[in-house]
Amino acid sequence: MKIAIDGPSGAGKSSLARSIARKLGMIYVDTGALYRTVGLYMREHGIDPKNEAAVLASLPDIRLRMTHEAGEQHIYLCGEDVGDRIRTPDISMYASAVSAIPGVRAYLLETQRHIARENSVVMDGRDIGTVILPDAEVKIFLVATPEARARRRAEELQGKGMTTTYEEVLADMRQRDENDRTRAIAPAVPAQDAVFLDNSELEPEQTLALALTIIREKTGGV
Ligand code: DC
Repeated sequence: MKIAIDGPSGAGKSSLARSIARKLGMIYVDTGALYRTVGLYMREHGIDPKNEAAVLASLPDIRLRMTHEAGEQHIYLCGEDVGDRIRTPDISMYASAVSAIPGVRAYLLETQRHIARENSVVMDGRDIGTVILPDAEVKIFLVATPEARARRRAEELQGKGMTTTYEEVLADMRQRDENDRTRAIAPAVPAQDAVFLDNSELEPEQTLALALTIIREKTGGV
């Protein structure tokens, strides 16, 4: 079975996808982490992530491997686990920039499809329902207001000891929404057969309960 969870950044896709995977015994795949890892490589090598030619020229040098160990996803960049190094606001911007380059998306396509061929997956991203897994049995488009998303992301970053403010997160988020929604390739838009779920006013457990209802309806019971 394949479940696609798409939507803007900070909508809570990863918590929802992780909870669904745990509940239904599926593998959770965080596709944003792949774009973040490509972004990290560019930053570490001083490459402008908007310079398409330079980014494309460096792709053959990136050795990227995604594994799932004891329910946790790990990404190895040139043999090293990237861990939390891909979770900074700076890398979010790098990821957003490289994700607008068609050659980068093509480069990451097979990694994503391969894991879904071999496993039952709950995959979160921006184009899972439209491009990566158009035949997913369930497609959820998770949304929340920019303010709700920025508040949650700021709390998460502050919890990790970062000094980012709510205002900074909100400004970054608006910028990234705009990039991701308006880019020419694979824009972050809902698939025609996606079900919208707005969790601005919901607790995570309520969002999970609604998602499980959607899954049950789409698959005829889980
Ligand atoms: O979900 P995230 O914030 O970790 O994603 C980081 C960036 O990667 C985001 O700005 C958009 C891009 N992305 C994408 O274009 N397609 C995906 N399937 C996942 C992420």
